[in-house]
Amino acid sequence: GRRGTGFGRRAVLATVPVAVAALVGAAAPTGTGTTGAAGAGDPYFPLSGNGGYHVRHYDLTLRYRSGGRLTGTAVLTARATQQLSRFDLDLKGLTVDGVTVDRTAATAVERSGQELVVTPRHVLRAGRDFTVTVRYHGTPKPVTDPDGSADGWIPTDDGAFVANEPQGAMTWFPGNAHPKDKSSYDFTITVPKGRTAVANGVLLGQRTAGGETTFRWRETQPMAAYLATATIGTFQVHRYTTRDGVQVYDAVDPREAEAAAPVLAKLPSVLEWESKLFGPYPFTSAGSIVDHADVGYALETQTRPLYDSAPGILTLVHESAHQWYGDSVSPTSWKDIWLNEGFATYAEWLYSEQHGGASAQKTFDGLYARPAGDGLWAYPPGDPGSGENIFGAPVYDRGAMALHELRKAVGDPAFFRILRAWATAHRHGHGTTAQFVRLAEQESGKRLDSLFHTWLFTKGKPNRP
Ligand code: ARG
Ligand code: ZN
Repeated sequence: GRRGTGFGRRAVLATVPVAVAALVGAAAPTGTGTTGAAGAGDPYFPLSGNGGYHVRHYDLTLRYRSGGRLTGTAVLTARATQQLSRFDLDLKGLTVDGVTVDRTAATAVERSGQELVVTPRHVLRAGRDFTVTVRYHGTPKPVTDPDGSADGWIPTDDGAFVANEPQGAMTWFPGNAHPKDKSSYDFTITVPKGRTAVANGVLLGQRTAGGETTFRWRETQPMAAYLATATIGTFQVHRYTTRDGVQVYDAVDPREAEAAAPVLAKLPSVLEWESKLFGPYPFTSAGSIVDHADVGYALETQTRPLYDSAPGILTLVHESAHQWYGDSVSPTSWKDIWLNEGFATYAEWLYSEQHGGASAQKTFDGLYARPAGDGLWAYPPGDPGSGENIFGAPVYDRGAMALHELRKAVGDPAFFRILRAWATAHRHGHGTTAQFVRLAEQESGKRLDSLFHTWLFTKGKPNRP
């Protein structure tokens, strides 16, 4: 039902050329070429993101009170990519108290499912910069994903575990929440004294007054909304700078501290090892957030991965590898998710291989031995089919198997050149599977279409390589 015809109709209207839109535009109240689309056009999450504008910067000011209530002010600095008489923001739940566009109250503000529909007082010209300010409050709740998992603002016994992949950003701030739209972020988060609020990037400062502490965080590198966090809890904090000058901030729930310490201590050496394989670390800050929550997954939140309990070393390696593959080079569509998960999983195989564990070939062989009916072969990683499948074994494990097949076909020197070239060519941007295939062919000088066709796009268990 999520791919209903309604979306198709809106998408078509949203692509009316600006010249035509100008003719029909302002006269019609809704559904014209000057109405920003309700989604970014993602086949699996059609309402994620919005059409008609790019958010350059988010300035989020949040106050969290014990008990879970949140008040927020989001100031978005955006640029219109088409003429806009109306545009949408993604926001689910919460109460909106006011919306201004360029400091003028919006003419109309409507809620429609996960869309916050804003009609500014004046039509915005294509190419124009504008600011949107949304004041809101409420008790945020996570969203349930098609696979049954929860994401977004997930309350814990001492705060919140905030993990937005793929669609949770809209549970705590209004925005253009599709990985296609990347932005810089400022966070000012006030929490009861004794709690810590951890977001992305560098800590600009913290101040306690009147029984509350305010944390100011800044991420200047482009970040997809699904990688933003504002995790709150009672944390032990450890800060240091690596010998490469990366500022590290670790926040650990005391209940996880003992188990987490030896693994978190390896972060600098893991980042150094990954930098040798993948190229320079893409960000200026790093760290870990180790919470004590029953969420069931970790997330590669930009610069500072988030764990629901003390991670094992391979999980740390996986989330760290995502900083290159997923965070710096983001998927253009959720369909391309193997570019995140296949790569991060293959990083685990490489880590084992180079640190006294199983060779990547051995890991591959173990997986290949699984019978044809196994879930691993349920769908191809390059075309998972729906949002329900984006975090399944075919994406992670068969995605890594595809990379291993590539490595065998081109040899180690070309393979590692490809990994680095991919991170360099799309640094702080996006990539698609088609672009990866082209880049692999260019770097190796080999035709690889049938290899990728077999491993990424063919249903069922591929024949023995
Ligand atoms: N990208 C995360 C990882 O490192 C998984 C996120 C899962 N999200 C979810 N809503 N189930 O593998
Ligand atoms: Zn992952």
